[in-house]
Amino acid sequence: MTDLDSFIAGLPKAELHLHIEGSLEPELMFALARRNGIDIPYASVEQVRAAYAFSNLQDFLDIYYAGAGVLRTRRDFHDLAAAYFARAAADGVVHAEIMFDPQTHTDRGIAFSEVIEGLLSAMAEAEAEHGMTSKLILSFLRHLSEEAAFATLEAAEPWLDRIAAVGLDSSEVGHPPLKFAQVFAAARDRGLKITAHAGEEGPPEYVYQALDLLHADRIDHGNRALEDPVLVDRLAEMRMTLTVCPLSNLKLCVVDDLARHPIDRMLALGLKATINSDDPAYFGGYIGDNFRAVARARGLDREEIVALARNSFTGSFLPPEAVALHLEKLDAYVAAYA
Ligand code: HPA
Ligand code: ZN
Repeated sequence: MTDLDSFIAGLPKAELHLHIEGSLEPELMFALARRNGIDIPYASVEQVRAAYAFSNLQDFLDIYYAGAGVLRTRRDFHDLAAAYFARAAADGVVHAEIMFDPQTHTDRGIAFSEVIEGLLSAMAEAEAEHGMTSKLILSFLRHLSEEAAFATLEAAEPWLDRIAAVGLDSSEVGHPPLKFAQVFAAARDRGLKITAHAGEEGPPEYVYQALDLLHADRIDHGNRALEDPVLVDRLAEMRMTLTVCPLSNLKLCVVDDLARHPIDRMLALGLKATINSDDPAYFGGYIGDNFRAVARARGLDREEIVALARNSFTGSFLPPEAVALHLEKLDAYVAAYA
């Protein structure tokens, strides 16, 4: 381990862009398939990993939704999330805001209660066992209708006090934020925060729509905003958090080489970028791997790495007092390390 690697490992950080279904490791996929008596089209863990070669977002999504088919009971959702929290704790994550895709499960006949109760039980354990706090983000699948998103918001009604935000994920191109303006307004009326994937594969126009029509508190990815200098200035001016995912960008061909990843350009432009893992089981690494890989590829210095971790707390949905406490601990870590 280099000095920078150990600095990154111990650096307190929050994860703001993580799809819990995307943390399903092949080993757990096999174990759950066996437990639930489900056939999966792979003979071995190695064969599963070999299938994870994607040339775009849709390639990945097809495999990701198929993989989620082994998740059936609240115990499965608990085990999935517990495994993620253990990995994240080892990477210095002290707070995680995790997305889940209820429609991926309810459309297969799994009750909303099974999904969310399993996740909530693992969240309570993560706090007790790792001292890690967490929040839930309910993400709507944008390839489905706005009506279906409304039905999902309705199914979530009994748990809304335990859901921090709504998000928007899945196939981006052809499914602009505009399509979901009404349901996001309804979510805002219920006091939920707003985040949306925009500018991963979709054009800068989708980022404008996420801001102007969804009133997003955060933008997930946001890479293609860089194509529009007026938009960049606006995002920088408003200190909008971008949840950037370097290894995801590489695996889904949003960037062709990590050596050309724009993370440091984003910081230099005044954009409030953060580092996240997106779907770590599918993209080759958890948040620590993302920090290390992009730091090495772009030659990030310690100041840039600290800025990215700092942004993860100020960009979180934690109350200001909690953010201030995390920043104090972050500053103490950096001072002690020097
Ligand atoms: N983009 C869009 N939808 C997703 C992603 C992503 O990176 N991961 C899981 N659902
Ligand atoms: Zn994502």
